[in-house]
Amino acid sequence: MKKWPLIHTPLPGPKARKLINQDRTYVSPSYTRYYPLVVEKAKGLWVHDVDGNIFLDFTAGIAVCATGHCHPRVIKAIKKQADLLLHMSGTDFYYTPQIILAKKLANLMPGKGAKKVYFGNSGAEAVEAAFKLARWHTKRELNLAFYGAFHGRTMGALSLTASKTIQKKHYNPLVPGITHIPYAYCYRCPYNLSYPECELGCVQWVEDNLFRTTIPPEEVATIFVEPIQGEGGYIVPPPEFHRELNKIAKKYGILYVADEVQSGMGRTGKMFAMEHFGVDPDIIALAKGIASGMPLGALTARAEIMDWEAGSHASTFGGNPVSCMAALATIELLEEGLMKNAAVQGKHLMDGLVKLQQSHECMGDVRGKGLMVAVEFVKDRETKEPARTWRNDIIRHAFEKGLLLLGCGENSIRFCPSLTVNTAEIDKCLSIFDDVVREMAL
Ligand SMILES: Cc1ncc(COP(=O)(O)O)c(C=O)c1O
Repeated sequence: MKKWPLIHTPLPGPKARKLINQDRTYVSPSYTRYYPLVVEKAKGLWVHDVDGNIFLDFTAGIAVCATGHCHPRVIKAIKKQADLLLHMSGTDFYYTPQIILAKKLANLMPGKGAKKVYFGNSGAEAVEAAFKLARWHTKRELNLAFYGAFHGRTMGALSLTASKTIQKKHYNPLVPGITHIPYAYCYRCPYNLSYPECELGCVQWVEDNLFRTTIPPEEVATIFVEPIQGEGGYIVPPPEFHRELNKIAKKYGILYVADEVQSGMGRTGKMFAMEHFGVDPDIIALAKGIASGMPLGALTARAEIMDWEAGSHASTFGGNPVSCMAALATIELLEEGLMKNAAVQGKHLMDGLVKLQQSHECMGDVRGKGLMVAVEFVKDRETKEPARTWRNDIIRHAFEKGLLLLGCGENSIRFCPSLTVNTAEIDKCLSIFDDVVREMAL
């Protein structure tokens, strides 16, 4: 492999420094940047900054660039479509890319029977649409969502989100009728129980407690859930969690809505993460990896659920033809081998991190599926006291060594590289990460 990463300036370099100063003057200060990376170009797993430094990217632009940065087949599809039609609006007109992508996604959605697809531009829009569709279809007003969940930042999606208070501060009142309940975060069980002896007390609690005391289940429209919690810390629930929760949903006619914005599109080694849990959701929200970096959000639902009328929901840019063609090229690549690669390389990454955990006390938990993997940092393995500042320091130090990482949860680091990642790139990541953690611990 090339002798990359290559860091040949102080970070940020002189050009990056200038641009960051302009950014501070003109760009919204609401964005959270962990480190001063100013990107110029990228290919595969490798990101070049404006000063010629080259980084190994284990963020994929927040789990978006499923096929690697600028995959030639995705670029070819984009260019071909750009020559034909940039925009017409699927809201008022028909065009081929939106129709063939809808057919593809409808066929991919797990479960029997016909499916239909709605298109937006982002994860939040897909979630927002799911929220509205469920209300339209069920005519029910209440919803369940989870602590730690991140569903986006528009008012409806934000109302379902319960990740960090900064995301909600000063934005109340939000959409009413949402009750947040604890997720199956077994490393830090909110009920102080241990799996499997707990017999999924967190799920039983919904029926035995919540539905008996405060929430009439026949008024609940949805259970909104991430198959694996993303921003919340890449938390993988026990294998039977979704199955048992979905059973309760079915019993009361509640729609099971899977937010697969981060976990979907092959990232976990299956097209949808919910497939690992043997549950066919009623509605699935998709975005991020779906179009390899082109803006696109999609909502797939059982056809009988998607019964809203003309005019009830739409978006001018949703289902943009160029984004749709990028999505079709992306899905083709996933099916040809990238999804399988995610499973194989994900195991290699996980095995490598578990091995490192033996020599680094601060790596409290290593978890994930496929290429959705995280390490949770603790000050002490016994007390599990979260090591928040270490986590941030490790991310910053990794950047200085040419490895791009992102945090998730309060004290975890996520590894979500493109699905094109190879063994050598994973070994390089592990070796830099090992050095960084060792140096930080000194
Ligand atoms: C699970 C999940 N849902 C929704 C969203 C919101 O997506 P977007 O930022 O595209 O609006 C995210 C973004 O991180 C996400 O991880």
